[in-house]
Amino acid sequence: MRTEPNYARALTTFREQARLSGELRILDLYEAEPDRMSRMSLHVAGLYLDLSRHRVPLQAMPEWERLVQTSRLTDKRDAMFAGQVINETESRSVFHVALRAPDGAHLSLGPGGEAVSAEIEHTRARMRDYAVQIRRGDRRGARGQRIRHVVNVGIGGSQLGPLLACDALDAFADGSVQAHFLANIDPESWRRISARLDPDETIAIIASKSWRTVETARNAQAVRAWFQSGGIADHEMQDHLVGVTANPEGAMAFGLSDNTIFPFRDWVGGRYSLWSAIGLPVALVIGPQGFDQMLAGAHAMDRHFREAPWHRNAPILMALLSMWNADALGSQTEAVIPYAQALARLPAYLQQLQMESNGKRVHRDGSPLEAPASPVIWGEPGTDAQHSFFQSLHQSPQVQPVDFILVKPESWDPQERALGLLANGIAQAEALLHGQPDVDDPHKRYPGNRPSTTILLPRLDPWHFGALISLYEHKTAAQGWLLDINSFDQWGVELGKKIATKHEALLGGASDPMKVALDPSIAALHRELSA
Ligand code: F6P
Repeated sequence: MRTEPNYARALTTFREQARLSGELRILDLYEAEPDRMSRMSLHVAGLYLDLSRHRVPLQAMPEWERLVQTSRLTDKRDAMFAGQVINETESRSVFHVALRAPDGAHLSLGPGGEAVSAEIEHTRARMRDYAVQIRRGDRRGARGQRIRHVVNVGIGGSQLGPLLACDALDAFADGSVQAHFLANIDPESWRRISARLDPDETIAIIASKSWRTVETARNAQAVRAWFQSGGIADHEMQDHLVGVTANPEGAMAFGLSDNTIFPFRDWVGGRYSLWSAIGLPVALVIGPQGFDQMLAGAHAMDRHFREAPWHRNAPILMALLSMWNADALGSQTEAVIPYAQALARLPAYLQQLQMESNGKRVHRDGSPLEAPASPVIWGEPGTDAQHSFFQSLHQSPQVQPVDFILVKPESWDPQERALGLLANGIAQAEALLHGQPDVDDPHKRYPGNRPSTTILLPRLDPWHFGALISLYEHKTAAQGWLLDINSFDQWGVELGKKIATKHEALLGGASDPMKVALDPSIAALHRELSA
């Protein structure tokens, strides 16, 4: 693929054109292109997207189209939706979209492959029942107390999705169950959470796709010991501990049984797993109907991604824009600024989604990338962010594109602070675009012409939240396909895990630092620690 001359040429031309566009003035493009707004804005799955405030002339569209076609993006997309093995380095399908297909979808892993829908629907039904029973108090703790708290013990994709969703959709929680998230192996994390909990009123979900993640395994042991010291006997643990995993054997070895394990399959990537049983905390906190709504919104975006032509396809356009900006602006980062406190965790979620997916160094054939495939993703909610790093967004010579996520306010009462929030989200996009280039004092001059995207949600409800996350998932996948990389493996996380095992043995005295080959810097650190 990488070596196909048409694709290689299309990618090179795309990059050259992007670099040439770096000097374009966006405001001039609006004047020169009367149809710019209609071509660069979209209504998709209830969301409104404005992609027009970028240094992209419409005359570049043939280059964009050539890259879409020669990269075979749409074939790869269709292969994903067909459940084919597209994660070659792990020999796996990438089929998280099957998790949000409605009941009765009858999907399978590739033509003639294993049918998956029945199992998905069965687990979904078990999740619904479990959530309803806990929320109603039909299912209680071992000593008959009502369950008020759920602790999700998981990290990375087994934490960030449900944490974001529970936080984002807090307005839909009736307070019957509160979620807590234990990820860090730092004992302080569990100390802080457990200090506020009563074991009799608490359940813990051990969430680990692999059931091999050290942090989760150690935290799970700590949580089980906490239940035990709270007087819950081993045979009562089933009322307080459940597991979510693609490795049920591992969970059974930990002591869970079939009826306390909610399974999912290895064709669900960790960072794409919110829609699986990994979303159980969401069903517990906002109720299973809310969870189903979230799946439905994500599915609506799936359909858009699958069906819309590339030039009206929001995830594909966002992926192309991201690549374009890297060359047009020389930018290596993308800021995501939600003007919604409820989406405060969105940047952290998108960091794993995009940087673990596309933070790669080689193409699918192993040849090195010419340029980074993923920008660094970062951000904080507005308006807080305006009072910290927006100075740099407006005046630093380094231009970084921004995604503004806005939500229509529920009340248009001028006395309400929500209008102030929204006004700021609009104002910052305008300030970045127009600047104040004509001011004499160079300290007070804003160059302007700084690109940004706006994504407007009509409401922050489970449905539109699902659509938003699915939009970014597909943007990430599309970018990987355009660059001919594998967005679905994550080999870069393995080395540190292995080395940590060695250091834990050294720190714990199980092996001798003098006998292990260490570089001078690391050896000095061990000496310092043991002094
Ligand atoms: O170390 C990275 C990673 O493998 C992520 O991809 C994953 O989401 C996370 O760890 C947690 O993995 P697991 O769900 O298997 O515990």
